[in-house]
Amino acid sequence: MFSIIPALSLALLFLLLGTSGTISYAQKCRLVPKQQVQLGTVPQVPLSGGQNDNATSPASLQPSHTSSPSASPSPTPTLASFNYGKDTVRGVNLGGWFVLEPWITPSLFESTNNSDIVDEYTWGQMLDSDYALDVLQNHWDTWITEDDFIAINAAGLNHVRMQLGYWSVPITSDYTNYSTSVSPYIPGAWPYLLRALAWAKKHSIHVILDLHGAPGSQNGYDNSGRRGSANWAQGTNVNRTIDIIRFVADQIGGMIDVLELLNEPAGYQSDIGGVIADYWQAAYEAVREVAGTSLKVMIGDAFLGVDNWDGFMTYPDAQGVLMDYHQYQVFNYNQLAMSYDEHIADSCQVLGTLQSYAKSNLYTISGEWSNAITDCTKWLNGRGVGARWDGTWQPGQQVFGSCDGYTGNSSTWSDDYKTFLRKYWESQVAIGEAVQGWVFWTWKAENADDWSYQKGLEGGWIPQDPTDRMYPDICS
Ligand SMILES: *[C@@H]1O[C@H](CO)[C@@H](O)[C@H](O)[C@H]1NC(C)=O
Ligand SMILES: *[C@@H]1O[C@H](CO)[C@@H](O)[C@H](O)[C@H]1NC(C)=O
Ligand SMILES: *[C@@H]1O[C@H](CO)[C@@H](O)[C@H](O)[C@H]1NC(C)=O
Ligand SMILES: *[C@@H]1O[C@H](CO)[C@@H](O)[C@H](O)[C@H]1NC(C)=O
Ligand SMILES: *[C@@H]1O[C@H](CO)[C@@H](O)[C@H](O)[C@H]1NC(C)=O
Repeated sequence: MFSIIPALSLALLFLLLGTSGTISYAQKCRLVPKQQVQLGTVPQVPLSGGQNDNATSPASLQPSHTSSPSASPSPTPTLASFNYGKDTVRGVNLGGWFVLEPWITPSLFESTNNSDIVDEYTWGQMLDSDYALDVLQNHWDTWITEDDFIAINAAGLNHVRMQLGYWSVPITSDYTNYSTSVSPYIPGAWPYLLRALAWAKKHSIHVILDLHGAPGSQNGYDNSGRRGSANWAQGTNVNRTIDIIRFVADQIGGMIDVLELLNEPAGYQSDIGGVIADYWQAAYEAVREVAGTSLKVMIGDAFLGVDNWDGFMTYPDAQGVLMDYHQYQVFNYNQLAMSYDEHIADSCQVLGTLQSYAKSNLYTISGEWSNAITDCTKWLNGRGVGARWDGTWQPGQQVFGSCDGYTGNSSTWSDDYKTFLRKYWESQVAIGEAVQGWVFWTWKAENADDWSYQKGLEGGWIPQDPTDRMYPDICS
């Protein structure tokens, strides 16, 4: 039923993967059937007949009809499947790539000259659509490149977690009875995602693909695509999301290791809390319908704590399910008030909680955490919003001090702080190592070195080999 195959998109993908250097826009367009070009100049990824197994056969990335010399086959990379539970996931998120976040790439938002553009939704809504697409395509093409996958591999990491907005998924009405409109979002990232999956495989990196933005917004954060209220549980959004997950699993389930059903749904909101368990179950079944059992499925604690999920979707009720837990220590006043030592102690406490959950429930990944101990990064709390730390967010609250020396360019940081960051990094790695692994947030950010794995490697507060420890007994 869900087996329409994109011969033409493979051709398009192959051109993107291009062995021959520059690809003209006209060349790409030539391959797109007219009826599938929507939104004026946005090239949609066409879906049409082809072969069936791209799990272990990345040769399917090659076009079935080679139409130009540039489309000559490249060596077929192979990557053995990852042994979850036995081998430890060590990875980075590729934040801000296929879902924009103002604090990760403030320059993109600044370049709009419009302070009302605060997320990807308003990006599509308020910008001229050609311009909006143009800037996004350039971003998709340059923010993360093949060199990043090479560097991630060289840093001893074995996973990336990639964010996907539902608006980038080219689902058609053959696959859903719900709306396929993504307006005002700008679609078009899908071929760039496919290219990234090929790079990952080529450089021995496993992929957790994470639905980071769902229809209606599952949490109201800008990182869901739309800042404001979380309306995901309303109307047909949940059912629509299940169809989107089924489509993704069907189309690229063989090219990824883990499909995460939804990032950070706001389970503390009663309507979302009321549907989330059913959603995990239904979306899991949708994946299993189309993608077999080798594709792992990831759920999250929905901010309810892992203990809320005791006995949920464990074997044999379900199989191949992993739990994703996110750990930040900067988003409330109590956390910000902690001393260096208290931050470390907090990590070690989370370690205990996750470890005991994972022992009798699901394989667990510490899927987002960072080196930040302040919320000082510009726009971390949203474009135009200040920080709790220095009192620029809400008046009348506790103020911890100046933001100087905590974020931005690490050249302004004290040695003391950098020494602490290494220790803090190790304490959080210890959490993940005590369960089935960890994924740092995030690989790079324009101007927030406390959030950047890349800058940590350069600055030495993250080791070149992630198994090197200066503080091996930090939580014992
Ligand atoms: C923003 O303003 C700058 C400086 O005036 C201008 O060069 C640029 O084109 C403007 N950008 C947009 C999207 O209008
Ligand atoms: C759409 O609805 C029809 C009629 O109820 C049903 O047969 C079909 O399976 C549905 N399609 C999808 C993709 O859910
Ligand atoms: C969602 O799908 C279920 C199962 O197909 C159906 O019973 C339910 O009415 C749908 N909900 C909405 C709001 O469409
Ligand atoms: C991968 O294979 C599935 C069917 O198994 C197919 O539907 C999908 O289009 C393929 N994806 C790509 C990118 O080749
Ligand atoms: C950070 O500061 C150093 C030293 O002043 C400078 O060389 C570097 O370009 C800065 N990095 C960024 C991203 O501004």
